[in-house]
Amino acid sequence: MSNTATLATLSGSDLAADPNWWRQASVYQIYPRSFSDSNGDGLGDIKGITAKVPYLKQLGIDAVWLSPFYPSALADGGYDVDDYRDVDPKLGTLADFDEMSAALHAAGIKLIADIVPNHSSNRHVWFQEALASPRGSAARERYIFRDGKGENGEIAPSDWESVFGGPAWERITEPDGTPGQWYMHIFAKEQPDLNWSNREIRDDFLKTLRFWSDRGVDGFRVDVAHALTKDLTEPLISKVELSAANTGTDGFDDGSHPFWDRDEVHEVYAEWREVFNEYNPPRTAVAEAWVHASRRARYASPQGLGQAFNFDLLQADFDADEFREIITRNLAEATESGASSTWVFSNHDVVRHATRYGLPKGGGKHAQGQDGKGWLLAGAPAEELDVELGLRRARAATLLMLALPGSAYLYQGEELGLQEVAEIPDAERQDPTFFRNKGVEIGRDGCRVPLPWAPEGTSFGFGDGGAHLPQPAWFARYAVAAQDGVEGSTLELYRTALKFRRELQTSEEMEWHESGSADVLHFSRPGGWQTVTNFGDTPVELPAGEVLVSSGPLDGGLLPANTTVWLR
Ligand code: NOJ
Repeated sequence: MSNTATLATLSGSDLAADPNWWRQASVYQIYPRSFSDSNGDGLGDIKGITAKVPYLKQLGIDAVWLSPFYPSALADGGYDVDDYRDVDPKLGTLADFDEMSAALHAAGIKLIADIVPNHSSNRHVWFQEALASPRGSAARERYIFRDGKGENGEIAPSDWESVFGGPAWERITEPDGTPGQWYMHIFAKEQPDLNWSNREIRDDFLKTLRFWSDRGVDGFRVDVAHALTKDLTEPLISKVELSAANTGTDGFDDGSHPFWDRDEVHEVYAEWREVFNEYNPPRTAVAEAWVHASRRARYASPQGLGQAFNFDLLQADFDADEFREIITRNLAEATESGASSTWVFSNHDVVRHATRYGLPKGGGKHAQGQDGKGWLLAGAPAEELDVELGLRRARAATLLMLALPGSAYLYQGEELGLQEVAEIPDAERQDPTFFRNKGVEIGRDGCRVPLPWAPEGTSFGFGDGGAHLPQPAWFARYAVAAQDGVEGSTLELYRTALKFRRELQTSEEMEWHESGSADVLHFSRPGGWQTVTNFGDTPVELPAGEVLVSSGPLDGGLLPANTTVWLR
């Protein structure tokens, strides 16, 4: 064996064992039902992912975050889980999962599984048992059941609303056929909230964490991590009193909300941490926690989940001041918690950033509007959308983000510059937010349309059959095959940037430089790696240095509007 081969093997296994692999990882989110379909049934599947491992390797990512792949009736895109320790038969088998995991690992890619602890689905055996069991039974104690108010219990226990719209309580029919108790669901009625005061639930989730960790899962993305523990002491506070108590703009900052971000939730994660640390390297986790900024650090602490998403850039406009303030604040927060920062522009819940940035300022609100209940989506009127500008800015923003210290979370299709699909007929929509808010919310289906792999053919190469959400004709020009090897394509931009990022990222330091313009951000990382972004409308002079990659064509010694460049 040559020296080079030995060295390569060694550094590969060292990397795999590095307990800090996640700190500056590029993580690619796969929404499995829309990624790649191996059997032509219109639904992406696990074998489809395995077949695309060479694509992922060439892209240059460090880890895949896999959105829920568990058995599910898809009342909420798989976030309604029937069984936490199995694979949806529509997507494959546990053996397929193992094969995918082995293929990813062989390619040097880690695997992060989405875990959904706040609620199960209403088809979970626990919930079915609860429905068949009497009031006060142990089976009902796994969920949050309450008697209704009013003479015959016909009024919901409180006026709380579900994040998806409509009431947060649903009445059941008792086993004897009479109208019965109510159960709480913060999300869809098919997603009953679990009772995290119940030791059995806590133990069962520890078992689930070990189940997947034993199968080689390297980390977990924790769904609505801030909702698990609740204080439901009677009388339940009304939503009017709740909103009066919430004087901040960004959620409660003192843990006093009855179900969001209570301090007790960290007891749960302290136990999870013990399980993570049973493994070598320790399993990692990232919290999806929409909490007041001052309370994020606890989720991200090494005694807790280790990392927490910050969705601040995702909600910002394409604006130099906003970006600078957010970056500075989040890096400081990450230092405080001992975690590394997390950056994200797009995911399966928000309007794709190539579309948001093509909308008039205020586009951040088109992504997620925190209104105290959680997030809501706003549809964007097509006539206001500038597709070309949106993509230019998205490419500039992403190139900036990939230069920042911390983990970069990418969403499938953004490497193609995909736009949000607005033209989905109502009859084909799937998102519960659409059904529960008819005429108000269009929901999240537009970012979940199956990926185009080829410019022509059935479902643009997604599979041999159709696509479970309709793909528009314009998907052809974004297809992987239409961009592969094409200089200047968004796919090649991502590949080049991810390759340089791996090479150039040595420490977690960065330093701001005076750019001489309020519209230009300039920072450097150790080793002479410089990033300059022009958020303004007019070209600016480029600082000296060798150009490594730019998000759009440069104009001689000038950096055009809406463009980022990496220099050395
Ligand atoms: C957050 C997930 O990202 C979203 O897709 C889901 O609908 C809710 N949690 C409920 O699980």
